[in-house]
Amino acid sequence: MNRCCRHMPKLCRHFPVTDHRLLKKKLERSDGLQKERVNMDAMEAIFTRRSTRRMKPELPPKELIDKVIEAGRMAPSGSNSQTTHMIVITNKEVLSKLAAVVQDAFAAMEVGPDAYVSLRNSVNAAKKGNYVFHYGAPVLIVTANKKGYGNAIADSACALENMMIAANALDLGSCWINQLHWLDENENVRVCMEALGLEQDETITGGLILGYGYDGRPVRSELKRTGNPVTYVDDNNSVQA
Ligand SMILES: Cc1cc2nc3c(=O)[nH]c(=O)nc-3n(C[C@H](O)[C@H](O)[C@H](O)COP(=O)(O)O)c2cc1C
Repeated sequence: MNRCCRHMPKLCRHFPVTDHRLLKKKLERSDGLQKERVNMDAMEAIFTRRSTRRMKPELPPKELIDKVIEAGRMAPSGSNSQTTHMIVITNKEVLSKLAAVVQDAFAAMEVGPDAYVSLRNSVNAAKKGNYVFHYGAPVLIVTANKKGYGNAIADSACALENMMIAANALDLGSCWINQLHWLDENENVRVCMEALGLEQDETITGGLILGYGYDGRPVRSELKRTGNPVTYVDDNNSVQA
């Protein structure tokens, strides 16, 4: 299988969606170090994943990017719908153009003190100028899904989390990037994204950046989870229904 995604032909190098078995073969053929990285334990990859925002401008090899995308495509989806669309942007001109469009969109926005803190921060930074929502990373993966599909965000989140964990296992940094989702209905963003392959019946559900950390390694320092409460209901609990 070597299906092609729907990109703007002028800007896109015809990014192929590769069969993961072929990709696995390719990685097996590469050097021992890379093989070791691919075999990182799943729990270790989950527990050491952190958001990496400062990245080298250097583009990771295509085999590694493809492997991350394949991990996203292997994610579960509601009713096995498999409608999460991943738009993989590595074109520097396009990345700069998107940053400018996002900056202009946020700079024109007024938000009150009750607005979601990250949105408020983005708007304030954009008004000051030089706001680059993707931190100048070499790869931006935008996820989209069918408008009106009830599992659109959930399916995309499964794909994004798979990709972030796979990136860590491959020694790549990643960070969820949500600005294009917030601006999904902005006309300039839609024009830009539709030129890059977003379908008219799709909504932007999220995205992530990918690349080598500025020192060559992804961020892996521990960030303790003090939230995310857990409630166990087991045989020792007496529950009055
Ligand atoms: C739904 C979602 C949206 C996020 N949006 C952004 C974003 O737009 N920009 C950003 O720098 N980080 C973003 N993040 C990353 C979070 O800030 C980060 O996951 C959180 O601070 C925990 O840190 P960790 O990922 O290093 O464990 C987002 C994370 C999630 C799950």
